[in-house]
Amino acid sequence: MRALNAIVLSCLTLLLLPTINATAASDDRAQVPFNADDSAAWDSPPHLDSTHHLIFNDVASLRQRLPNTIHLNGHSVVAVIVPTGTILYHGRGNDSAPTGSEWLAFDFEHSHQECWGPCYVISYVTTRELRLAYLDGVSAANLGSGTFDTQDILIWGKPRLDKVMEEEERIAGICEWGKKYDGLDGFVRMEFHFEVILCNFSSGSVEVVSLLNILPKDFSEFADPPEKLPPWRRPLPATAPPPGWKGSLPSAKSSDFEAMVAGSWQNRAPGETRMRVDYSSFVTFYDRTLTSLVAARRGVPRVKHRLINITASETARKLDELADVYGRAPGAGSGVDWGSVTHVVQQRYADRLALLRFLLAPTQVAAANATAHAALVRAQLLTMLAPYMTTDAVPAPGNASWAQRIVRLCATTHTARIRDAVLTPQERGIRNAVEGTAREICRQITLMWADAFDIEGAGEARQRAALLKWRGQVAELMAWLDWSVWAQCEPECRPDELCYVSTWPYIYVEDDPADMTPHCISRTKLHMQPWPS
Ligand SMILES: *[C@@H]1O[C@H](CO)[C@@H](O)[C@H](O)[C@H]1NC(C)=O
Ligand SMILES: *[C@@H]1O[C@H](CO)[C@@H](O)[C@H](O)[C@H]1NC(C)=O
Ligand SMILES: *[C@@H]1O[C@H](CO)[C@@H](O)[C@H](O)[C@H]1NC(C)=O
Ligand SMILES: *[C@@H]1O[C@H](CO)[C@@H](O)[C@H](O)[C@H]1NC(C)=O
Ligand SMILES: *[C@@H]1O[C@H](CO)[C@@H](O)[C@H](O)[C@H]1NC(C)=O
Repeated sequence: MRALNAIVLSCLTLLLLPTINATAASDDRAQVPFNADDSAAWDSPPHLDSTHHLIFNDVASLRQRLPNTIHLNGHSVVAVIVPTGTILYHGRGNDSAPTGSEWLAFDFEHSHQECWGPCYVISYVTTRELRLAYLDGVSAANLGSGTFDTQDILIWGKPRLDKVMEEEERIAGICEWGKKYDGLDGFVRMEFHFEVILCNFSSGSVEVVSLLNILPKDFSEFADPPEKLPPWRRPLPATAPPPGWKGSLPSAKSSDFEAMVAGSWQNRAPGETRMRVDYSSFVTFYDRTLTSLVAARRGVPRVKHRLINITASETARKLDELADVYGRAPGAGSGVDWGSVTHVVQQRYADRLALLRFLLAPTQVAAANATAHAALVRAQLLTMLAPYMTTDAVPAPGNASWAQRIVRLCATTHTARIRDAVLTPQERGIRNAVEGTAREICRQITLMWADAFDIEGAGEARQRAALLKWRGQVAELMAWLDWSVWAQCEPECRPDELCYVSTWPYIYVEDDPADMTPHCISRTKLHMQPWPS
């Protein structure tokens, strides 16, 4: 939204990537659906340029704040529905309700944060379903480091560094793009909370519930005296409290922070339930056929993935895909709840992999009786593979067909019987990503199991060697999956603390854009960064 846009002017970080000259790999076998790919050996690792894990993560993270805060450069666009009867908020300095395009907040806190002088908060109710396109990542952060890449492609056909602060032009541009599609009412983006861009307040989709003159805020607690702040950051001349008011006014510092708190309510699944995701419309720039983006991702952490070097023809292909998706009648999808499918996979493996990592940590292993400890890990592997442990899945020397069977069953558990014909092309992409991700989980666990099978009767030297090898395999798998469910505050935060990861616009002393480790910060003692001079 507007009020905070300018705050980040000086925080504008340009993440520069190493130059990589490798040509894009042409071997795309790893992207072929597993159930159609009998040629891959059961133990062959995912293709180096596979994007299955990235797409899986995007789908599993839609409408959740924490994973999108960590993986801040979004690559995906998906249609969402905000149901009839949903209350949304808009805050401003006067009492005239918007008529054109404007921002709406899901919570009062986010709209209140928009008031800098006199404060009017208008609450709206949706009078019909709003159809919106949701851009993932921190897609409302005015950063030059990639948060706007997808949006810029819709608006200008390519990322535009010169437009990072141009919010008015941006909202006009994205609504102009959306106008082509019947029934597309606007967009959803995310900063420290989700926000709606409603392109036409006069289209009858929302109705004013109340327009309230809210108490003005007290700006005196900001770290810097107003004269030290740039003009756009200064509060308007203090607004007088209403006659008869006693004591302190609501603190502006706290109002800013509470917008962050309200956003954190949507940190984890199910996330922002006031929008329903239409997975059949999931369009992603992690599409592996966009070859111009492949080389620049190799060895580069996800936070630095960019779309800046996408070719014009591949951009055009993606815009055509978006036109297909938003041009077609609603209800094109299979009805499969892909978000739920990804969550089921995450739930089944996330804490078990974390348990293995814990058991295999150097301190745990060093203190343990190797025989007992190897047996303990073996039992956990058996638990994870239990659904596929048929009586003929007994490892035999020189014949890996038992492993092949386990991996196949395990990798296609959730997708084997979904008919290809009922899926949209976008859903096929998700299906492939789910299978590719599940296959890698199953492959690594089965590889560990091959060593664990007869470990109980082995000598201590082999047991110790196995524990060491498994530690490496679990670490490799967890790094590849890169699930945000493992990003937790440990130990848990107290009631007067918030579990926090560095969040744009990085106004607290605890913020470090280079470190996305969750940590507890005080909810009652807020430490704002002094304004950089
Ligand atoms: C984009 O291309 C330029 C010029 O070839 C190169 O320096 C840069 O590293 C590339 N960046 C990305 C993210 O692909
Ligand atoms: C009311 O505030 C909005 C948002 O700041 C602004 O665009 C509009 O011009 C203002 N209207 C009047 C009548 O002052
Ligand atoms: C907004 O919607 C109203 C009612 O459907 C319509 O008359 C008006 O032209 C629309 N405005 C724009 C800018 O599309
Ligand atoms: C280690 O554990 C095994 C299996 O539980 C047990 O038989 C053995 O006595 C233990 N060794 C030591 C040194 O405690
Ligand atoms: C491997 O085992 C499977 C059944 O367990 C059997 O059908 C297959 O013929 C065996 N392959 C070889 C090369 O022995």
